[in-house]
Amino acid sequence: MSGHLLGVYNRAPLAFDRGEGARLFTAEGDSYLDCVGGIATTGLGHAHPKLVEALERQGRKLWHVSNIFQIPDQETLADRLTAASFADRVFFTNSGTEAVECALKMARRFHHHRGNPERIEVIGFTGAFHGRTYAAVNAAANPTYTEGFGPQLPGYVSVPSATTRP
Ligand SMILES: Cc1ncc(COP(=O)(O)O)c(C=O)c1O
Repeated sequence: MSGHLLGVYNRAPLAFDRGEGARLFTAEGDSYLDCVGGIATTGLGHAHPKLVEALERQGRKLWHVSNIFQIPDQETLADRLTAASFADRVFFTNSGTEAVECALKMARRFHHHRGNPERIEVIGFTGAFHGRTYAAVNAAANPTYTEGFGPQLPGYVSVPSATTRP
């Protein structure tokens, strides 16, 4: 494996070359059933023709604009997601870490707006994983992710999980 990657992940000695639906293939042609799904990011499978077509169409049209501009397709997607779910607002993120960070910040802001700024405590389970931002590692209280990143942020309380309880 390349020594030029920052060593933040323990990677299995296995690489995939392509995917098709729920199947993954190595460069040697070995086939695997994808039970990981990119850790919940490829729930629609790999290389579905309709998704490939949508990606190609967008790639030829417009790659990226900042959130300082209106993004009509983003609004359409937010409308469709809220119509199909419990939520009435959408915040698009690039990762689970950002989603957790957003949830933690919204919880604090909620209590601040309600006139209870002292309500800052977040309870996490020891040894959990919520992502790699400062807030997320402090919420998880997992030494693997907090060691060397002190001091611990205030307002994070950890309780033993079923697996860490003696
Ligand atoms: C429970 C949980 N929270 C947060 C994350 C972080 O997500 P991401 O790697 O997309 O930042 C993960 C990723 O595995 C997760 O399993």
